[in-house]
Amino acid sequence: MPEGAADLDRLEAEARAALAAARDVQALVEARARCLGRKGSISTLLRGLGALPPDERARAGEAVNAVRDRLEAFADARRTELEQESVSRDLERGRIDVTLPGVPSHAGRLHAVTRAERDICTFFASLGFSVEEGPEVELERYNFDALNIPDDHPARDSHDTFYVRPGVVLRTHTSPVQIRTMTGRTPPFRFIAPGRVYRHDASPRHSPMFSQVEGFLVDERATFADLKGVLYAFARHLLGPATRLRFRASFFPFTEPSAELDFGCVLCEGRGCATCSRTGWIEWGGCGMIHPKVLENCGIDPERWQGFAFGMGMERAAMMRHNVPQIRLLYEPDVRLLEQL
Ligand code: PHE
Repeated sequence: MPEGAADLDRLEAEARAALAAARDVQALVEARARCLGRKGSISTLLRGLGALPPDERARAGEAVNAVRDRLEAFADARRTELEQESVSRDLERGRIDVTLPGVPSHAGRLHAVTRAERDICTFFASLGFSVEEGPEVELERYNFDALNIPDDHPARDSHDTFYVRPGVVLRTHTSPVQIRTMTGRTPPFRFIAPGRVYRHDASPRHSPMFSQVEGFLVDERATFADLKGVLYAFARHLLGPATRLRFRASFFPFTEPSAELDFGCVLCEGRGCATCSRTGWIEWGGCGMIHPKVLENCGIDPERWQGFAFGMGMERAAMMRHNVPQIRLLYEPDVRLLEQL
């Protein structure tokens, strides 16, 4: 198969065109096999040289080898080119436009009651009160007996207690923390004890779980006037400087004298609305001078020491601060609602 110089040139041009036409590395590998592989056109050509007379054979061989070397070099160069193109394409496709607006992520935040609780703790810290905690699963002895609430006392009914087992209850108020904190300590002291409490109460205006903040101070001279002063400062810090309070004479076995405390409804500014049952007032909690029996139960001499205590609902305050008309809304798992708080 004698090949003229013109044929060789044409073959080289065709091979170059085929290699140049490859659009990706895979196509290039295939084109290369067709031109330069063992069964490719160049190999076939080299094999055909054997038929030539010896003097022509050497010259033609040189020429074909030169063509093969050039094509190899061309294929290598093309491969590098294609690889670079593919890298650039990948970069182009995966490009990030850092100026695009981001996808907003939902940041969690503290619940309105948690925020009220933290605010309350900070406020009382400024009055020198430290924060105490007690268990939500409480001994009946601390929840009732030590607080001067005897077995048959009607106050036990009014608390609608959840019993865990005989002698153990879900605490119905934060007052047992008074007992836990005062026992074995020597006055003077001032503490607050915020936390959850539980009452079995089916009415829709109540929740079976709610939060109270207990506060108590024991000193050689502590009066009801001190109690009122502290509660006024507390209410006005929490609900604004114009907040009005109303003390109603009441009864608790663990305080004497005792009062129930209402604040002027913030939602209607005292005019009367559904939240305050059209009275203009919202029940907030109870308070009074700590009963001598309670001090005695804690090993404190009531002849020397006296004190006051209060227990206030925290949801009530959180509701006023966030314009929430019903306590249940605070515990509704509705994100649209919680986001507004
Ligand atoms: N523990 C009472 C209640 O939950 C409130 C209270 C606390 C009253 C402290 C007086 C003193 O109803």
